[in-house]
Order: sequence, then C-alpha cells, then structure tokens
Amino acid sequence: MLWIPGPTQVRPELLQEMARPAIGHRTKAMTDVIERIHPHLRFAFGLDENSTAHPAVHSTSATGMMEAGLIGAGQKILCLVNGAFSKRWADIAKALGKDVTVLEAEWGQVVSMELLDQTLTEQGPFDSITYVMSETSTGTLTPPEDIAAVMAKHPDTLVFTDVVSAIAGRPIDFDKNGIDFAFAGVQKAFALPPGVAVVCASDRYMEKAKTVPNRGFYLDPINFIEGHEKRKTPITPAIPHYFALAKQLEDISAGKTLRTADQHLEGAEAWAARFAKHSRMQARTIDWAKGHGLTLLPELRQASPCVACINSGNVDVPALIAGLKEEGFILGNGYGKLKNITFRIGHMGDHTEEGLEDLLAAADRVLAKSEANSPA
Ligand SMILES: Cc1ncc(COP(=O)(O)O)c(C=O)c1O
Repeated sequence: MLWIPGPTQVRPELLQEMARPAIGHRTKAMTDVIERIHPHLRFAFGLDENSTAHPAVHSTSATGMMEAGLIGAGQKILCLVNGAFSKRWADIAKALGKDVTVLEAEWGQVVSMELLDQTLTEQGPFDSITYVMSETSTGTLTPPEDIAAVMAKHPDTLVFTDVVSAIAGRPIDFDKNGIDFAFAGVQKAFALPPGVAVVCASDRYMEKAKTVPNRGFYLDPINFIEGHEKRKTPITPAIPHYFALAKQLEDISAGKTLRTADQHLEGAEAWAARFAKHSRMQARTIDWAKGHGLTLLPELRQASPCVACINSGNVDVPALIAGLKEEGFILGNGYGKLKNITFRIGHMGDHTEEGLEDLLAAADRVLAKSEANSPA
C-alpha cells in the first residue's frame, strides 16, 4: 500500500478503466469522455454556481501546468516560496525570463501575509503572484483565505495557486478565494496514476493571456483551455487517463468513494464528505504522532490536508520505512534537506480510515520493535 505523499494508491476499478480499448481522439467517443469529466471539475475547483471560470484537462504533469500558467501571467511575478515545489515555480518563472521577486519562508512555515501586503504595496504593481496551497515537500498549507484577504487590497494582481496536494482533499473555493489560475496533477487526492493535469482559469486570466504574443503551442493555456471548451484536445491526449479520470470524478460525485454511512451523498455534499474524511485522517495521524511524542513540522492551522510531515525526533526514519515496507506499507521520507529529520504520511485519496488504522498499527509494531532493540 502506497502511503507516500503521492503518487498514492489507485483503486483496481480505476486501473481497469485504463485498460479499455483505445479510441480515436478526434471522435465523438472522446468528446463524450471529456463531457463526462467536465461538470465534476466544477466541484473539484469549488466554483460558485454562477462562476464563469474555465476548468480544463491537459495531458501534462503538474510541472507542465506551472509553466503553462506562467506563459499568460505577465512579466512581473511575485513568488511565495516555502518548500521545493514553490521554489520550482519561481525557478521556472526565472527560466522563462520573467522579472521575479521571491518572498521566502523557512520550510514548514508560511510566508508572512504582512510581508506579502507590504511587498505588493512597496514594490508593485505585480502582474501575478504564485503560491503553493499545500507544499507537499513540507506538508504545509498556505490558507487560501489568508491570501485572498491580502489580495483583495491589490485587485489588479492575478493570483496563481498550485493545488496539487490540496484538490480533492480540501475545498479550493476558486472564486471565493480570488484565484485566477489553479492546477493539479491527478496522482494525489484524486487517487489516479500521474499523467494528466487539471486546471482552472478565470476570465481575467484568459483575457490577459490572450494579449501575450508567442505563447508557443503545447503549453499555450488558451489553446488547451479553449480546446477543452469545445470538448476537444489540441494534441493526442493520454486517453487511458481520461477514461480513469472520468470514472473517478463520477464515483466521487456519486458518493461511491465514501464510507458506507456517507454513500447516499451526491454532488457537492459528496465532495464535502470527501474533504471531511481527509480532515479526520489528518487529525488521527496527528494524534498518533502525539502519542509517540512527535510533532508536526508546520503549525496545526498550516498543516496540509493530505500530507502529514512529522518531525522524526528519536525515530530512526530509514528503519521505520524499512520495517513498514516488510509489513506491506510504503511511507515517505522527508523531502530534500528534511530527509531523515522528518517523515511524511500521505493520508489522501481513496485511502480509508480503516486502512489508516492498519498503517498506524503497523508503525506502532515497528517502533516498539526498534525500541526493544535499542540499547538502554
Ligand atoms: C505541490 C506540488 N507541485 C508540483 C508538483 C510536481 O508535479 P509533477 O511531478 O506531476 O510535475 C508536485 C509533485 O509532487 C507537488 O507535490
């Protein structure tokens, strides 16, 4: 069982979808698959009922979407960096020749909202800001409502967010949180194999992007978002992934991925119940850590809904990971400079609360064994 911070475990039913016979991508059958996907993306991005935002799918990894979004972002970009993926976004912006200002926080912390406000006021106007809602490398949530409160004072700056390890695990509330461009791969809380990305862009992002010359082709956001609106793809898409995404989104909206007591729920209520399951799994994981005298790297309000990044204290992380592997559970080590001083549990996707209990019980056994073996 994969309990790393993504890719996460995929249900066999979804893998079976990917084994369907191929179809031509310029056919009605393909348009029908995109048509099945589309309404559920509105739930995933938490669009307001009258929202005119533009959800879409494209065959690229999440990193491709970081780059695609920036193509339409304007020149002057402010990047909030508090881990590996937010840094990657700033690096891509620099590589694209943008005029980049970076605001940094320690790994496990969130960039100060006062500093954000001050920088926008004193060094602005900026065309766009980027932030990662759930920094998978550190298990840290940048609460989108905090960003929205600051950005309300700077309404001419577009807001970009990476929701890779947030979407399908917590509400995104695209319109309420003043987001202009959000994207994710599908290998985290959507619980699908990696290979396609979902995206949502506001009208004003689309208008701004259309004024940018030389947007290229493959990652031109206008090209694939307008293509999606015609239920077509500009290139040959990862068709098996589209089959699996359609089934998974339908199953989530039909309550099929929920515990038995919640399976009668549908639509927005079923999505809310999926978010609630993630919150319960998060709370249980934190409690378990506390029981072993361990703490989370970020503070509680800033903890990712999908990834617990736990300070390892006296735990021998490689031994814990190796012991769990023998029991059939794959756990994540800390990322980069946090390797061995933290470890990460990806409590996300279609993992169940019972499954989490099995994992934690196995971790208890491994830790007890290593305590028994360690010299007094
Ligand atoms: C928050 C975040 N952003 C971006 C990425 C990059 O995704 P990909 O490797 O699919 O391009 C990841 C991957 O784990 C991630 O966790």
